[in-house]
Amino acid sequence: MSKAQLSIRGEDLELPVIEGSEGEVGIDISRLRGGTGAVTLDAGYGNTGSCQSGITFIDGEKGILRYRGYAIEDLAEKASFEEVIHLLLWGELPTQGQLDDLNQKLGEYAVLDDGIKGFLKSLPKTAHPMSLLASAYTALETFYDSEGDSEEDVLRVLAGTATLSAYIYRHCKGLDFIDPRSDLDFAGNFLHMSFGKVGEEPNLNPAVQEAINKLLILHADHEQNCSASTVRMVGSAKASLYMSIAAGVGALSGPLHGGANQAVLEMLTAVQEDGGDLEKYVNMAKDKSSGFRLMGFGHRVYKNFDPRAKILKAACDEVLESLGLDDPLLDIAKKLEAVALEDEFFVKRRLYPNVDFYSGIIYRALSIPTNMFTVMFALGRVSGWIAQWKEMRNDPAFRIHRPRQIYIGETARAIQPISERG
Ligand code: SDX
Repeated sequence: MSKAQLSIRGEDLELPVIEGSEGEVGIDISRLRGGTGAVTLDAGYGNTGSCQSGITFIDGEKGILRYRGYAIEDLAEKASFEEVIHLLLWGELPTQGQLDDLNQKLGEYAVLDDGIKGFLKSLPKTAHPMSLLASAYTALETFYDSEGDSEEDVLRVLAGTATLSAYIYRHCKGLDFIDPRSDLDFAGNFLHMSFGKVGEEPNLNPAVQEAINKLLILHADHEQNCSASTVRMVGSAKASLYMSIAAGVGALSGPLHGGANQAVLEMLTAVQEDGGDLEKYVNMAKDKSSGFRLMGFGHRVYKNFDPRAKILKAACDEVLESLGLDDPLLDIAKKLEAVALEDEFFVKRRLYPNVDFYSGIIYRALSIPTNMFTVMFALGRVSGWIAQWKEMRNDPAFRIHRPRQIYIGETARAIQPISERG
């Protein structure tokens, strides 16, 4: 194993260097503080690996994304979301028998305790669906007497996310709930529970079902992103899977993360209502004082095209054509991309469209309301969060996550009586 040499305050320390299966190199600093008294500082963790993982590989320079070695382009084209669930959670694409078994279990665990319906109905219809979803996971746990980390809990959180998402959609619309069916796949159940008619047989559009399947795969996992790291952080305290996933939903809701897909649609609509003045918005995004960012653009890891954005851009045309729809916002998005990619500000900072830039166009075409877009992101991502949580909990090096800091506040001082303060 190669070593890194460190000299600090007269202390010399050799640190082991870890090399991953794709040639990535990491300095193991677990002996740093003991050996030198120093800790590292890395605002936003841009240079800090939190774990060694075998789930997802991203090469941000080349725009490569693979789940357990399979290219995202292949999985999006050739796999079902259920196959990707099996791949992420249990490490391999399933045999037909394993897939049949998973489908049977997903159908069984999609049925949730009826009490969750009353809980959701007790919450305001005007609440943001991500707030309702985060609340629903912690409420769901109260209906089951478990440690919250069994395979049963994994299946319930996984399958139950489709049920909760559909119930939340219908609650916000003031519609009665439709229960899951065991004869529909994950995407089909979500669509039927969301858009079906109470008491009627499912009436699913295969093109819509295929689009949802692809969207779920593209959003399934993305290594140590903000929400997956949050799920790991909370899970490292041996908190339940329900609590860990609820925390992940909270992180994903932020507009810098999963909430960006809703913000992109709102931005494109603003451009449209503003007469399509693309230059105005690109110039605003370049002006730091504006506080405006080109939502759906830029990424901490991708300094090239986000491969998911490429797939989604093509899928926009396919879905709109198959549904016989035309969406002026897609034209605006494509023109905005073209203008930005020609602009030195974006080129210099290597800012490209990310997964959130085009996804909203498809959700809109599928009649999903804008404020449900990030719930749709969570619907796919819950599989990755669970895979990351399981890997963390099963890691032989498992320990609670507890970062250090550099204190820059007041040094020791005595308390003054209040009469002498001020
Ligand atoms: C997701 O991590 C993941 O993997 C996330 C995700 C996943 O699958 O889990 O891929 C999903 O969250 C995608 C990102 C969705 N967010 C957005 O689209 C929001 C808009 N993008 C940005 O806010 C930003 O690009 C981030 C949050 C995505 C990344 O932020 P970084 O890595 O902290 O980058 P930064 O803010 O330091 O920006 C570097 C420079 C800055 O300018 P300078 O200080 O160098 O002059 O680029 C500028 C930024 O001002 N910049 C942008 C910009 N993004 C970065 N300027 C205008 N518009 C933007 N979108």
